[in-house]
Amino acid sequence: MKLAIAGTGSCVPETKLRNSELERLVDTSDDWIRTRTGILERGRAGPDIASSDLSLVAARRALEMASLSADQLDLIIVCTVSPDMLTPATACLVHRELRVSRPIPCFDMNAACSGFIYGLEVSSSLMRGEGYTRVLLIGAETLTKFTDYEDRDTCVLFGDAAGAVVLEAREGEGGLRATVLKSDGNFASLISIPGGGSRQPPSPYVLAQRQAFIRMNGRQVFKIAVQAMEQVARDVLERAGWKLDEVDHVLVHQANSRIIEAVVERLGLPRDKVPTNIAHTGNTSAASIPVLMDECHREGRFSPGDKILCAGFGAGLTWGGAAIEWTG
Ligand SMILES: CC(C)(COP(=O)(O)OP(=O)(O)OC[C@H]1O[C@@H](n2cnc3c(N)ncnc32)[C@H](O)[C@@H]1OP(=O)(O)O)[C@@H](O)C(=O)NCCC(=O)NCCS
Repeated sequence: MKLAIAGTGSCVPETKLRNSELERLVDTSDDWIRTRTGILERGRAGPDIASSDLSLVAARRALEMASLSADQLDLIIVCTVSPDMLTPATACLVHRELRVSRPIPCFDMNAACSGFIYGLEVSSSLMRGEGYTRVLLIGAETLTKFTDYEDRDTCVLFGDAAGAVVLEAREGEGGLRATVLKSDGNFASLISIPGGGSRQPPSPYVLAQRQAFIRMNGRQVFKIAVQAMEQVARDVLERAGWKLDEVDHVLVHQANSRIIEAVVERLGLPRDKVPTNIAHTGNTSAASIPVLMDECHREGRFSPGDKILCAGFGAGLTWGGAAIEWTG
């Protein structure tokens, strides 16, 4: 049995937060942001738009491409660190809005920017173990709502988006070939949203201290991200039985163009095998890889049989890789 990607979809808000607007909010410059991050603008969801709304658009596009109805799904997973609310799960809200007419398992996963890779492995395990045939896997974030626009270290980075894939179990070879997941909680404090959970419940104090926003040690994250993504790329290739020069496309989490360039250099990859969209999306965390995958697919970049390597990295710290043989 193979686990094929039967459809992809994405949703990046049309409203953009441009570098010039950030120049008015904090002590930064368009030039600094471009050269240090590669970001020119990021999608920003409006005040009435939550992660489930972006998820829904991406999901409908993926289902349409797969020529499937929502009633044919056996499982919905939303990977997010910016859910609509602490509970219920965003996946349950997607289930409701897609009008799925029967109860199916729906849950959220928090592996931060590695969420989509984690979701691939969990989906594949449940498909093989439980016999599910079709899974809707979404990475969705509205991180601009958790961004402190007084903190220049973080506010230039994050954007909103959702990306979705429909995984389908089919006869034959190909599809999702291998995944590798890692995390190291010793680095938990390097990226966090410290307030709003049970450690620091919501309170006027937590809000006043700006603890409900993303906090990050960017320099340390940068160093670990480059090493971890290089290693996990090599590990997943080994598990898939592929050589690096056989790979046709490398989809790297869009955190920072300098991180991407460093990974490209360490692996010795031809630059044209590594598409990027960070200039116009910013870092969209769990949405980043599925949005990039959808854009590449709709541009006609992937052909059946192409070997695709994915590598992601994020808070936790978590990281992971996936090897996918495109099935078309
Ligand atoms: C955040 C990041 C862009 C900062 O770039 P950097 O080259 O590491 O910059 P540094 O943190 O070393 O800071 C260099 C200087 O720029 C300043 N600076 C930081 N943010 C700035 C901004 N938005 N505008 C202008 N200057 C800024 C710093 O204060 C520092 O000044 P100093 O030298 O006077 O102390 C980079 O570290 C990064 O992308 N890290 C990874 C973050 C990430 O991907 N997180 C999510 C993981 S999924």
